[in-house]
Amino acid sequence: MRKKLVAGNWKMYGSLNENKQLLDGIITGLNGLCNTHTAVCVPYPYLSSVQNALQDTQIAWGAQNVSQYEKGAYTGEVSVSMLNDFKCDYVIVGHSERRAIFGEDNNIVAEKYVKIQEAGMIPILCVGETLEQRESGITEQIIKEQLAAVIKRAGIISLSKAIIAYEPVWAIGTGKTASPEQAQDVHAFIRKGIADQDMGVAKELTILYGGSVKPNNASELFKMPDIDGGLIGGASLVASDFVAICRAMNI
Ligand code: PGA
Repeated sequence: MRKKLVAGNWKMYGSLNENKQLLDGIITGLNGLCNTHTAVCVPYPYLSSVQNALQDTQIAWGAQNVSQYEKGAYTGEVSVSMLNDFKCDYVIVGHSERRAIFGEDNNIVAEKYVKIQEAGMIPILCVGETLEQRESGITEQIIKEQLAAVIKRAGIISLSKAIIAYEPVWAIGTGKTASPEQAQDVHAFIRKGIADQDMGVAKELTILYGGSVKPNNASELFKMPDIDGGLIGGASLVASDFVAICRAMNI
């Protein structure tokens, strides 16, 4: 059975006070829900307090980015060993906001992915097309290239210790969700492409959908055969919404 996961991506939101209220709400709301794996990926400065709040719960935590370098004169960067100090399970890598705003290309993403795995953490590798790319009919090509860079650098077997998140850029933070069928098509394409290289890895691979997942559309998306959970932005900042989405996965 493939692992199911609902992961929150807090992006650059929160404060010590807000985080405490949010996590209290999530912990209370999820009480007793254990089939779904749940995680929150938080801004670096809050890792310590989030670790304290979650260490005795079933909820995992992680970061939203990491440096591709080990250590050195890289002002402002954070390394995988620093994330390990805070017992992160997951690190998001290749989010479209990192690609578009901070210029991370497929090669940088592949380097980061390798570092995360070498440090024993699980990369949540984001892939997805822009609206323009979808409209030009090159969605599959773009996703194939994004995956190929990582597979070339780390090998197909590395995906047995990774999670993929399909996040159409046009659906992120826009309120426009991919329809369950649109998402399923791409998820099936991803799984098939990996199955062509390694059937066992493809079968076990957790593929999340991300992009305006909300309590009112989560169960339709999660019913699809190749959708194994979600990467949740905006709705992960509202405890009751995030809990409702986790519950939708657990059905
Ligand atoms: P959203 O963000 O749920 O706010 O669309 C998803 C993401 O960026 O991971």
